[in-house]
Amino acid sequence: MVPPAFAQRTTVSVTVGAMTPARIVVVGTGYVGLTTGACLAELGHRVTCVDVDTAKVARLNAGRVDIMEPGLSELVARGLTSGTLSFVVGAREAVRAADGVFLCVPTPMGAGGAADLRAVEAVVAEIADVLPSGCALITKSTVPVGTAQRIRDLLGRSDLPVVSNPEFLREGSAVADFLGPDRIVVGSDTPGAADWVANLYATLDVPAVVTDAASAELVKYAANCFLAMKLSYVNAIAELCDRLGADIEDVTRGMGYDRRIGRSFLRPGPGWGGSCLPKDTSALLRIAESVRFDFGLLDATIEENLAQRDRIIAKIAAAVGGRLADARIGVLGLAFKAGTNDLRDSPALSVASVLCAHGAEVTAYDPAITGDLPGMLVADTPYRVAKGADAVVVLTEWPEFQRLDWAYMAELMHGDSVVDTRNLLEPRAILAVGLSWQGIGRPRAAARTTSVS
Ligand code: UGA
Repeated sequence: MVPPAFAQRTTVSVTVGAMTPARIVVVGTGYVGLTTGACLAELGHRVTCVDVDTAKVARLNAGRVDIMEPGLSELVARGLTSGTLSFVVGAREAVRAADGVFLCVPTPMGAGGAADLRAVEAVVAEIADVLPSGCALITKSTVPVGTAQRIRDLLGRSDLPVVSNPEFLREGSAVADFLGPDRIVVGSDTPGAADWVANLYATLDVPAVVTDAASAELVKYAANCFLAMKLSYVNAIAELCDRLGADIEDVTRGMGYDRRIGRSFLRPGPGWGGSCLPKDTSALLRIAESVRFDFGLLDATIEENLAQRDRIIAKIAAAVGGRLADARIGVLGLAFKAGTNDLRDSPALSVASVLCAHGAEVTAYDPAITGDLPGMLVADTPYRVAKGADAVVVLTEWPEFQRLDWAYMAELMHGDSVVDTRNLLEPRAILAVGLSWQGIGRPRAAARTTSVS
């Protein structure tokens, strides 16, 4: 039962039904901004997306979307055709008639690990004097706790509510996540402003958690860091499985049925990466430091992620006889996860680069990546990576790697080692073609593989 005191402190309202179309401006047409703009237009709002990149704005007005995101091109096309979505250069002009302005500009990791807010501050300074009275300024970008207050100070106007409305979109399923979210989080210190923003999503019929600005800002970090912690934990348990002879697939299955734990985010891998989890874990650590809180748990989460990469390197080294120098290694997957062509903070790319740095000859293949990368050859077919390889290493969980002709892969390889850092392949299928298989935290499956061969 929820203690009454908790229930009182937490404002949770469910917004269902009537939604008034609003005039929305989205500043920044990156991955978050473009998804936000296209989806808000789909929900019935009139949306103008702004960017500083003239060529990109022209491409978008012609319906050309640069990023790989299922369903996004279709939504952009639909919005352009119906006239609910447009793209322009110049935020000052665009915001003059807006009811709400979403800030979706990058907040990269700055010096020392804190979020770099310069892009947010620059936009606020640019539009402060032309925003119509009552227009809500809404942060979607992940921003440090206290940013809403900072924006209010920068604006220097009391007639403009500032609202935090963090996004919880995953790359590769951003449109589906936007239109079918678990919840909406909106926070503001201006009475009524958060409810107005929550109402923009009213047709989605999902819970809206309405809070003060600082709490909404912290929700985003708390959620992403919790996911990172879950993954570091599961990678550590997988290491224990390797050492104790247990099987991580069975262990996580046994854990996941517990609804308090849940089944998602329990897949071990070469470490967590991407454009969000690494920067947000560092940023929250800096935020904690700023209030003199020693967040050892988060520190350990980050350290464990580095340790996981080192363990993967050691596993690959062992698979080629202990010496990486001059070993020929075929790498399957470079993107930070399947379904995206994003290489930012990719554990796969990081592992491949470390292998190169140790003198290995690396040939990589990723269905979403073309063009060579520093130190390694990027092939245009997965079979090319197997040619003459001492070991083939799976680093990104693209389903197409399961469907490869592994008998042909075995023929092409010089050695017989397959290191599967995503536990993606069926060990028996690899065994059946005379190769050895090693996963993460599955020593018995690996032993089965070896004993039969
Ligand atoms: C993450 C969050 O999941 C989103 O909710 C959030 O909105 C987003 O960051 C953001 O802040 O914008 P994303 O970066 O797209 O989304 O990636 P995830 O799907 O969360 O994956 C992160 C990393 O964890 C990847 O390297 C992935 O391979 C790894 N992972 C994920 C695992 O190793 N095992 C799992 O079971 C799940």
